[in-house]
Amino acid sequence: MKNVDARTHLRGESVYLDDMPLLNGTLFGAAFGSPVAHGHINSLDLTDAAQMPGVVRIFTSKDITGENQIGGIIPDEPLFAEQETHFCGMPVAFVVATSTEAARAAVKKIKLDISPLPVITDPREAQAQGQLIIPPRSFRLGDTNAAWNQCTHIVTGTADTNGQEHLYIETQGAYVIPQENNALRIYSSTQGPTAVQRAVSKALGLPMHMLEVEVTRLGGGFGGKEDQANTWAALCALAAHHLKKPVKYALHRMEDMAMTGKRHPYSSDFKIGLDAEGRILAYEVTFYQNAGAAADLSPAVLERTLFHCTNSYFIPNVMATAYSCRTHLPPNTAFRGFGGPQGMFVIEAAIAKAAGVMGVPAAVIQQKNLHHTGDEFPYGQRAQSEAHACWERADDLYDAPAIRRSINAFNKTNQLYKKGMAFMPVCFGISFTKTLMNQARALVHVYTDGSVSVTTGAVEMGQGVNTKILQVAAQVFSIPPEQVRIQPTSTWRIANTSPSAASATTDLNGKATLMACTAIAERLKEVAAAGLQVNAADITLRDGYVYVQGDRTNWDWKKLLMEAYTKRVSLSEHAHYATPEIHFDAAKEKGHPFAYHVYGTAIVEVTVDCLRGTYVIDAVKVVHDFGASMNPAIDIGQIEGGIVQGIGWMTMEEVIYDADGRLRSNALSTYKVPDIYAVPKDIEIAFLETQQDNLAIFRSKAVGEPPLMYGIGAWFALRNAIYAFNPHASIPFTAPMTPEKVLMALYSKTMTGTPSPHEQTVTHLAVDK
Ligand code: MTE
Ligand code: HPA
Ligand code: MOS
Repeated sequence: MKNVDARTHLRGESVYLDDMPLLNGTLFGAAFGSPVAHGHINSLDLTDAAQMPGVVRIFTSKDITGENQIGGIIPDEPLFAEQETHFCGMPVAFVVATSTEAARAAVKKIKLDISPLPVITDPREAQAQGQLIIPPRSFRLGDTNAAWNQCTHIVTGTADTNGQEHLYIETQGAYVIPQENNALRIYSSTQGPTAVQRAVSKALGLPMHMLEVEVTRLGGGFGGKEDQANTWAALCALAAHHLKKPVKYALHRMEDMAMTGKRHPYSSDFKIGLDAEGRILAYEVTFYQNAGAAADLSPAVLERTLFHCTNSYFIPNVMATAYSCRTHLPPNTAFRGFGGPQGMFVIEAAIAKAAGVMGVPAAVIQQKNLHHTGDEFPYGQRAQSEAHACWERADDLYDAPAIRRSINAFNKTNQLYKKGMAFMPVCFGISFTKTLMNQARALVHVYTDGSVSVTTGAVEMGQGVNTKILQVAAQVFSIPPEQVRIQPTSTWRIANTSPSAASATTDLNGKATLMACTAIAERLKEVAAAGLQVNAADITLRDGYVYVQGDRTNWDWKKLLMEAYTKRVSLSEHAHYATPEIHFDAAKEKGHPFAYHVYGTAIVEVTVDCLRGTYVIDAVKVVHDFGASMNPAIDIGQIEGGIVQGIGWMTMEEVIYDADGRLRSNALSTYKVPDIYAVPKDIEIAFLETQQDNLAIFRSKAVGEPPLMYGIGAWFALRNAIYAFNPHASIPFTAPMTPEKVLMALYSKTMTGTPSPHEQTVTHLAVDK
C-alpha cells in the first residue's frame, strides 16, 4: 500500500506547522539566545528592544508563572537563563511582536552585560573535573581481568565520533492559541506531544488537562524533536498565557542549528583481546559522552550505548563503562540510533585494529564472532539471533569474494584511485530502554456511514507510521483503506503518550489499534450472530461483508454497523497496550529490556581519489531482517534514508564548536550533508526471509533506526581504501572521515621504525579467496 501522505506531499498540500492558517491577532516570537557559552549575567537591558516598532512585550525568567524548568529526566535545565548561561544560544529573553521580522529586529537590540566563565567543550576534560550528569554506569559480563591471560592478541586504542545536526526539513516551532478559562491549544512540531504538555504545564503552573497539544505531522524529527520541541512550545505558551493572544514561533534554520542539541559526540577507549583463532575473549570499553549543558535525554542515550557496545558479537567477558559528561554545548539529544551507533563504532574500530595486528581481514574476525541464538548480551538478555543468517546471505547473494577480487584487481592496476570495502553487521534492540515507556493507547470510532477514525499517540514524521496503523485498522475490519482516517495526535484524545521514538511507534500504537479494532469487531460479530441466528464463532468480516462459515451473507459493513447502532452496541473503543515480557533491573544492570532485536548486514564499497582525498560510495548492499514487512515500500524508504544519514554522519557531516563553545558549522554552507551526488551509486536491499515469531506488529519488525548503522561501514571501507594506497598510513579512529582527513591519511606515515600492522592486512587481502 502507498504511503497515505504521498498525494498531498507531492502536491505540496500536506500541512505543517508553518502552513497553518493564522488566527486574526496572531503575534510572533523570537528568542534571544546567549552569545556566551558560560557566563555570569550582570545585567540585561531591554529598553531599546522594547521600543522597536511592533514589539508587544519581552519575556524573561521573571514572567514565568510556574517553574523555570524544562528538564525531562533530570530537572537541570532552566527555560530562561537567570544568573548564568550554560551554552551559546541558551534562551535569555523572548520577544513577541506583530510580525516575525519585527521580533527578530528587536532581538538584535537586546543588550546583555555578561562576564565570561571557563568553558568546557571536551567530555574527557569535563569528566576529569567531576562534571557528570549522572554517576557512571557499567555493564559487565564474565570477568575481563581473568580473560586477558588467555588472549594471544591484545589491542588497545581510542575511537571518537562527532555529533550530527538533525537537519529535519521543517525547523522547530510552535503555535499556541489561548482558549477560555486559561486553557491553551498548542500546535507543536514535536515527536512527544505529552512531553510538550508536561513541560508547558510545569513552566506555566497549569494542570495538564488545560493543555491540548495537537500534531498533524512533522517534516522530520530524527530524534531532535523528542525532547527539544518543549522549549519553543513553552515560550509561545508563556506569551499566549500572559497576552491572551495567539503566539507563533517557527525557528529560522540558523537559529535552529545554533540553539538546539545534536547527536552526542563520544570519545572512547577500548581494549580487546582475542585468541589465536580470532575469537574475541575480552572487551573493555570506556565511553565519554559529550552531554552538553543539561541532561536532556543523555542518561537514556548513554544507556543505549552500553546496550549496543558489542553490536552483533558474542563476547564472553565484557566490561563497559560510560560517563555522561557535562560541557557547555547546547544539550545534546536523541538522534536516530540513540547512542547505539556511537557504541558500535568503537567495537568495529577495535575489531579493525585487532585484525590489522593479526594480519587478517576484519571480516574474518567479524564473522567468526557473530552471536548465535541463546548467546548472552552483556545485559543478560539472550539473543534470538539472525546475525549469521544475514551475514551469510549477504556474503552469498552479493558474492563478496568476487567483490573482493575485483577490488584487489582494480587496486593493482590503478595508482591514483583505490577501492575499499567493509562489512557492517547490525544488531539493534527494539523497545524503549526504560520499560515503563513501552505502552500506548488507541482510540477508534466507527461511524454509522462506515468510515473509521483512529487516533493514537503516534506522530507521523515521514517514517510512515500513519500508513501502517491505517493498514492495521483496515485489515481487522476488512474494509478498503479509504474508509479509515488517521487523525492528528492530540493529548486530549490520547493521554500520557510516550514519544514517537525508539523505532517502536508502530509496534506500540499499532498493537493498541489492533486491540481496539478487534474489540469492536468482536462486538459486531455478536450483533451479526444474533441477527443471522448463527454462532459468533462462525462469523468473519471480509471485504466489507459478513461471512458465515465462509459463505458471504447479504449483510454488508454498513448494514452491520446500523444493526449494532440500533441495538445500542458501542462502535467505539479505547485500548491500552503494554509490551509483555520486558524488564530491566538497573541496580544489577541485567534484564530483558528489548521485545526483540533487528539484524542486518551491509557490504559497503567505496572509491577514493588519492590525489584529492575525495571519494564516492559505490555501493551499499544489504540483507535486512524485516521480519514479515507489512509495507515493503515504506520499509525500503526507511533503509535507504537511514543508510544515507549514517553515511553522512560517518563521512561528511562535521559539527564544529570553537573553544568558546560557539557553533562554527552553523549553516548549510559550512555543514555539509549528503546530496544526490554523495549518496551511494547503488543501494541494494534484500529481505531476510524468516518465519520467526516475535512481538512486532503482524511480525513486521521495527525499521526506523537500525539501518542508520550500516553507514558505519562506509568509514571502514574508506579506511581500507586508504591502506591500499598507503600501507603505512596513520588513520586515527575519528569520525567523520571527511575528504580533508582522507587526504592527510593518504600521505601520512605511522611512526618510523614501527611497521604498520596493515601492511600484512593488505597482502593477505590480495591473496584472499
Ligand atoms: N524517517 C523519516 N522520514 N523522518 C524521521 O524523522 N525518524 C527516525 C526514523 N525514521 C525519522 C524517520 C527515528 S529517530 C525514529 S526513532 C523512527 O523513525 C521513529 O518512528 P518509528 O518508531 O515509527 O519507526
Ligand atoms: N530510544 C529512543 N528514545 C528514547 C529511549 C530509547 O530507548 N528512551 C527514552 N527515549
Ligand atoms: Mo528516534 S532517536 O528514537 O527519535
